[in-house]
This record gives sequence, C-alpha cells and structure tokens, in this order.
Amino acid sequence: MKIRRHSEGYNFFGDTGTGCTLRWGNDLKEDPSMAPWPELADISISNYCTKGCDFCYRNSTRDGSIMSLTDYKSVLNHLKSERWGTIFQVALGGGEPLEHPDFIEIIKTTCEYGIVPNFTTNGIHLTQELCAEIKPYVGAVAVSISTVRDIDEKINYLIEEGIKTNLHFILSEESLDEAILLLEGKYNKYLEGINGLIFLTYKPQGRGEASRCLINDEKLIRFMALVEEDHCLARIGFDACFVPMLLRYTDTNVDYVDSCECGYFSIYIDEKMNVKPCSFTNDERFVFNLREYTFEEIWNNKLRDYRAYLSSITCSLKCDKKSNCRGACIYYKELQLCR
Ligand SMILES: C[S@@+](CC[C@H](N)C(=O)[O-])C[C@H]1O[C@@H](n2cnc3c(N)ncnc32)[C@H](O)[C@@H]1O
Repeated sequence: MKIRRHSEGYNFFGDTGTGCTLRWGNDLKEDPSMAPWPELADISISNYCTKGCDFCYRNSTRDGSIMSLTDYKSVLNHLKSERWGTIFQVALGGGEPLEHPDFIEIIKTTCEYGIVPNFTTNGIHLTQELCAEIKPYVGAVAVSISTVRDIDEKINYLIEEGIKTNLHFILSEESLDEAILLLEGKYNKYLEGINGLIFLTYKPQGRGEASRCLINDEKLIRFMALVEEDHCLARIGFDACFVPMLLRYTDTNVDYVDSCECGYFSIYIDEKMNVKPCSFTNDERFVFNLREYTFEEIWNNKLRDYRAYLSSITCSLKCDKKSNCRGACIYYKELQLCR
C-alpha cells in the first residue's frame, strides 16, 4: 500500500510493502520542520519482561502491566485522523513484546489498520515457528544487545525467514571497547545477514545507572573516527540522541541524518496510554493520557508548549552544523556529550 500525505511545506510518501519512506518540504532540498500528523508511533505494549536486564531504562519486571488488546485498538483508532489518515508505522516495545499474550493478534490488527508493525525484542523467545508466523505481518525486527556475546543463533531464525533484522547495540562506557571492535570489523562474522547495526545511546533511567553513561573522552573520539572508516559488514546507524555527536565530530553527510524527531514526526505511547514526545521524556508537563484527551488534541494543541520550549533552548556551542541539529537531549545532561 502506498501512503501519501501533503500539506503546506510538508510532503510524505511511504510504501508499506518495502518500508521505504520519503519526506520533503516545499521542494526536494527542503526539510519540513514537523509533520501535520505523526509518521511513526513508538508503543510500549507492556512493561512486563522476565529477562531482567540490569540496564533496562523502563525497569521492566514480571510485575509490569500489560496493554489490553482493546486498549491497543483504541490507540490505533486515536492514531487515525479524518484529515490525514493513519500513521505509517509503529515500533512496538515494552517490556518484552514477545511475552505479550496477544502479540500475534496485535501485529495482525496493526496490518488491518494499514500500519506497518515493527518491534524490538531481547530475542530469548525467537523460534523458527514464531518467525514463520510473524513473517507475513512484520516490517523490521530489532534484537537488543549490550555485548557481542548476546548475538544468539536464534537471530538466524529471523534472517532465514527473510525478515529485515537489525541489532540494537547499547552504547555505554562499558560497551564502548566492543563497539570500537565492531566498527573495526573484528566481529563481522557475527553480522552476516544483519540489515543494520544501530547504536543506541545508553540512558541513565530506570535500572540504567548513571555511572555507565558515555564520557566524551579519547576513546569516544576514536569510536567517532571509525564511523567514517566503514570496516563493519553491516550498515551502521545511530539513535537520534547521538546525532549531535555525529554532526560535531564526523563529516557524515547531513542528508543522511535525522535529528530528534520526537513530538515533530513521531510520538511515544506507553501501556497505560500515556502519550509523550519520546520514551525518555521525564518531564510531566509533556505527558498526556489518551483516556483524557484525543490524540488529535494532544498532537495539535497539548504538545505546542513542548515544541515552544524546545525552540527556546539555544545552543551556545560554536558549531558549523547548528542549522542541521535540533540540539542535544533536553532530559539528561549526561547525554549532552557534544557540549
Ligand atoms: C526497554 S527495551 C523493550 C523491548 C525489548 N524487551 C528489548 O529488549 O528490545 C526497548 C529498547 O530500549 C533499549 N534500552 C534498554 N535500556 C536502555 C538504556 N538504559 N539506555 C538505552 N537504551 C536502552 C533496549 O536495548 C531496546 O532496544
């Protein structure tokens, strides 16, 4: 299915078959500042997880709550606009999505709404049967790892089914040495068939202790230098929190870089139906519940203060990439590494 959306200064095209999306402004060279309706929703379908990773920013446990299928459908209804249609894709997270009792029903329902379901998983429940079952429905799957030792054979079940498989590598002070080896190509044998290796900036939230946050030191600068050397078998990518560092310390083509899109092109919704610009939002002023407001009201009106607040923050750095950067994370000073 092809999805098109056009308004003043904003154009979007998405192909649900290939996952390919294009976005442009008044002309192809211009980047729009925001979307009239989000393109992507990051939805936590539970905060239930049995793995107990000691870095989990959501502090997910066996006691974590679960979004019911009825609530999930209600969220998808909220995300359907009379004027703009529905969103293009969801990124399902949690908790552990594969431990949600209605996971299969959730991805099928998402497709029925014309939305591409993607999800992230710790990978422990991947089986050949499961991957064959989800193949007709899912867009891409990301398997989270905090060390190369987490790259499990189970990931091959996804690859063998032809499912676009990404690795989400948590980049912390602890994992930086391995990240350097990954970029040097030393672990290429583990990356065969992987669509993309995405480095996620470690966040000091939930069980994620601040002591493991990245530090802007020589080792990180060495990592940054390797980003441009391209010895890694997989395509590499970064989360939006790392973009200010990429812009400041590398010559990455700005056309390949999307600064933080939260609250501008994407949105986060948790299992209790709280809507926030992103999953790391720790400022209660920018959290609104779908039982109280419609999504349309939240996107168009309630998030105005958040966007105004963001545009009031000026970066004092002398940096020639300023016009391409939305600035460093506003929630955690530990993530303001470029400063
Ligand atoms: C909370 S997990 C939930 C989904 C699923 N259980 C998983 O492991 O992918 C969502 C994403 O957050 C990442 N994550 C967890 N703790 C983090 C932290 N302290 N900093 C940055 N990313 C983190 C995980 O690697 C995963 O990609």
